[in-house]
Amino acid sequence: MTTQPTNAETLTITDNRTGQSYEVPISDGTIRATDLRQIKTDDADFGLMTYDPAYMNTASCRSAITFLDGDAGVLQYRGYPIEQLAEKSTFLEVAYLLLNGELPNSGQLGTWVDEITNHTFVHENVRTFMEGFRYDAHPMGMLLSAIGALGTYYPNAVEIEDPAVRHMQIIRLIAKMPTLGAWAFRHSLGQPFVYPDNGLSYTENFLAMMFQIGKKYEADPRLVKALDILFILHADHEQNCSTSAVRSVGSSQVDPYSSVAAGVAALYGPLHGGANEAVLRMLRRIGTVENIPAFMEGVKAGNERLMGFGHRVYKNYDPRATIIKKACDDVFAVTGVNPLLSIAVELEKIALNDEYFIKRKLYPNVDFYSGLIYEALGIPAEMFTVMFAIGRAPGWVAQWNEMIQDKEQKISRPRQVYTGPAARDYVAIGSR
Ligand code: SDX
Repeated sequence: MTTQPTNAETLTITDNRTGQSYEVPISDGTIRATDLRQIKTDDADFGLMTYDPAYMNTASCRSAITFLDGDAGVLQYRGYPIEQLAEKSTFLEVAYLLLNGELPNSGQLGTWVDEITNHTFVHENVRTFMEGFRYDAHPMGMLLSAIGALGTYYPNAVEIEDPAVRHMQIIRLIAKMPTLGAWAFRHSLGQPFVYPDNGLSYTENFLAMMFQIGKKYEADPRLVKALDILFILHADHEQNCSTSAVRSVGSSQVDPYSSVAAGVAALYGPLHGGANEAVLRMLRRIGTVENIPAFMEGVKAGNERLMGFGHRVYKNYDPRATIIKKACDDVFAVTGVNPLLSIAVELEKIALNDEYFIKRKLYPNVDFYSGLIYEALGIPAEMFTVMFAIGRAPGWVAQWNEMIQDKEQKISRPRQVYTGPAARDYVAIGSR
């Protein structure tokens, strides 16, 4: 039963152009943009819209999946703090949680893991498709294309209103991401593709498909655990750029493979998931701790970006960066310390004490330290964003699944402020 909004739950707007006042309900800290359309100067007036480039202050949906508090540096999946999930859960259990809203019991988890494990293979034509890329194709370009191509093998995936069809595609997308990601890596090395080994855990299987050559690959359990934690940390992050792309493309009722391919494309950008690759290139370019002051002057002069720093939502430490920094110690205990760590730690120390960064509330984000771990695992920088995509797949499909079932959602189609020329007549070429 909806209660009538009290004064405390309404906004009174006075349009000074007409002297008219309007009462607009407030709910969940928002007003409905469409409630502004009634504010007109005359009947011919379209009515007021909001103008919000890059959606700096616009809620696009209602979601129960992930909660962020940017000022407090809080991240929760379905109410569970990321710190507890990273310490106590597994990536596939977190994927179940994101999709179903509750942690699975042992029977549910067993069934879920079996379903994922039994769908790690892809059609043989996908293998030949991936062999068609140039030898030096960027793995994200290969992943983006392969995910889109995957949808052509499951024509019934467009039956998105059928929960059983949605469930099957969700299983396939989560299960096949590591296979496609590992094969993109193997293609870039000119090495034969390694098929999934369904006797291994999800993350172990990924490492084997990446690194097995000539003999059975035995992954160090400490490295498997560290990578599983990294996947957990990347699993979802509410309405980030790539998830918004998945939701927007999915709102046209296209199949989920095409929607997720749009997410992979958005993630590819250096301001988003591509930042982890850019961080490593930045650290290599800085080269030594002694070069940091000159680099920082370039950042403050606006000639550089301190990649891996800053966030649209977190105006405090990204809680994921804290966990990843700790995971570095576990990985380096096995692999040896990545020499770039000292540059990253010194960069962070200087930045956190520099007015430029303090004033702009710029802190390390999820991408600042993750690349150091990936590199220590033997994964090249070109593959870092593929790692992000594998981790983010459960979040993308959970958000897509939520959007499909949201009765309020329709095809996503923003308006614009037109700034072009007024109507004018065609001019014959001889008169131009
Ligand atoms: C991810 O949204 C998500 O949740 C994303 C993500 C997820 O899990 O999905 O968390 C993953 O994408 C993390 C972000 C990875 N990107 C980077 O590390 C690239 C470097 N960071 C920036 O480009 C930037 O901080 C963004 C893109 C992350 C956020 O950009 P905003 O919110 O649009 O902020 P802005 O660009 O308007 O910057 C505000 C000010 C500007 O200075 P002024 O114009 O006010 O003088 O801060 C400055 C910016 O120049 N600034 C930086 C900076 N980030 C912002 N200056 C130097 N180095 C930086 N990294």
